[in-house]
Amino acid sequence: MNQEYRRSPAVTEAEVEAIVRRVLAARSGSRAETAGPRESAEPEGCRIQAVKTGFFGRGSVRMLGPEVAKLGARRALIVTDGFLAGSGAADRVRAVLEASGLRCDLFAGVQPNPTVQVVEDCIGQARACGAEVLVAVGGGSAIDTAKAASIVLANGGRVEDYEGVGRSRKPGIPVAAVNTTAGTGSECTAFYIVTDPSRGSKMAMIDPNCMVAVAVNDIDFMISMPPKLTAATGMDALTHAIEAACASGANPYTDHDAYWAITAVTRFLPRAVRDGNDLEAREMMAYAENIAGMAFSNAGLGMVHAMAHALGGHSNLPHGVCNAVLLPFVLDFHCRDARLRARLTRVAEAMELPERSPEAVVRRTRAMAEELGIPVTLREAAEGRLTPEAFPALADLALRDSCMATNLITPSRQEVIDTYQRAWDGRLL
Ligand SMILES: NC(=O)c1ccc[n+]([C@@H]2O[C@H](COP(=O)([O-])OP(=O)(O)OC[C@H]3O[C@@H](n4cnc5c(N)ncnc54)[C@H](O)[C@@H]3O)[C@@H](O)[C@H]2O)c1
Ligand SMILES: [Fe+2]
Repeated sequence: MNQEYRRSPAVTEAEVEAIVRRVLAARSGSRAETAGPRESAEPEGCRIQAVKTGFFGRGSVRMLGPEVAKLGARRALIVTDGFLAGSGAADRVRAVLEASGLRCDLFAGVQPNPTVQVVEDCIGQARACGAEVLVAVGGGSAIDTAKAASIVLANGGRVEDYEGVGRSRKPGIPVAAVNTTAGTGSECTAFYIVTDPSRGSKMAMIDPNCMVAVAVNDIDFMISMPPKLTAATGMDALTHAIEAACASGANPYTDHDAYWAITAVTRFLPRAVRDGNDLEAREMMAYAENIAGMAFSNAGLGMVHAMAHALGGHSNLPHGVCNAVLLPFVLDFHCRDARLRARLTRVAEAMELPERSPEAVVRRTRAMAEELGIPVTLREAAEGRLTPEAFPALADLALRDSCMATNLITPSRQEVIDTYQRAWDGRLL
């Protein structure tokens, strides 16, 4: 753990006290208004969910075998993609599982932005080999494939049946995850994302039953990420943290995680992109992406992710690139709202910007993506896979995406179209 970082946390004690005072003031205000038991069906407060067991640190993959064995499983299916199956990553995981007495089969059919078909293929192989546990080795795509398959294996039906919030009846079959990117946070979130090519869109499933039982964030599996992948996945983590801080479900617990992660990503992502062997930067990013995942899984996401899911489903662009390109333009739009301005001012503080304003966050997120080598216009990022004629249809998908539900303000269809267009042109308001 970085010592300097420990001494200067993003959220100071004074800030925590301020949060607590605000929450208490809001609560006493609502009690005074209702003068008696609350009539609303919704209780006050929030629900916090976390992974049962998470391992961090170099070499921590060795803890996976004994922990998976404790789940009572004897047959494991390793869920990964062709690259990680060939790079030795999946073999290292197989070795630790076999050392704990597990029999392993391999599904190497994961693709980036996994489709319904990829999930069905994984389910078929899991059934054929009698898998009792799915062990994902990879980034969000492998982990989400395993989470989706686990829900269908336990609940029946098809993956499409589970689109939306809390649609499964019971927990999926156990999933363990060795995370290789930093990242989606999928190893600790109640989310999974599957592309439906028949609709040209991504389905966002939010369901506590999909959460993995054992998560490993061992930087030995992340060091091989090339700079472009480090940059895109790191900007995904930054977007998670900023959207969690701005979401309607934000609360003191998730705020603490979100602002910590914003500071950590701002400090360490440029170093990890510049030098992939900078172990301290890799380690801090492994914590930051996980903590950002905890923040958004419990607070919700927002308009950036809703628009990114529509864009990624249509054009199969990397998820992190979609977020990095859209982030400044959505935040620019959010600058009009007083509540979002207040939260973005805190984001500016967490990013340690000299100017503590929402506009400074807009400028910095844009400059950061550019410095990390990510295109700053959607036109450039789209690489010929998209034209502006698609924006009305993408806006319709974005407005229906589960992530839009926790955006603090609800944009109109035209405002979403305009935001895509401004991202296309690289034009701030
Ligand atoms: N479930 C969630 O909470 C959540 C959150 C955000 C995004 N997502 C989803 O996750 C997916 C994106 O995941 P991702 O960004 O982690 O990328 P990914 O899993 O799609 O991987 C991208 C590419 O990087 C390669 N790769 C992975 N790790 C590597 C390593 N260590 N070294 C070299 N190459 C490596 C993979 O082989 C693949 O080709 C999208 O489908 C997105 O929608 C899920
Ligand atoms: Fe994301």
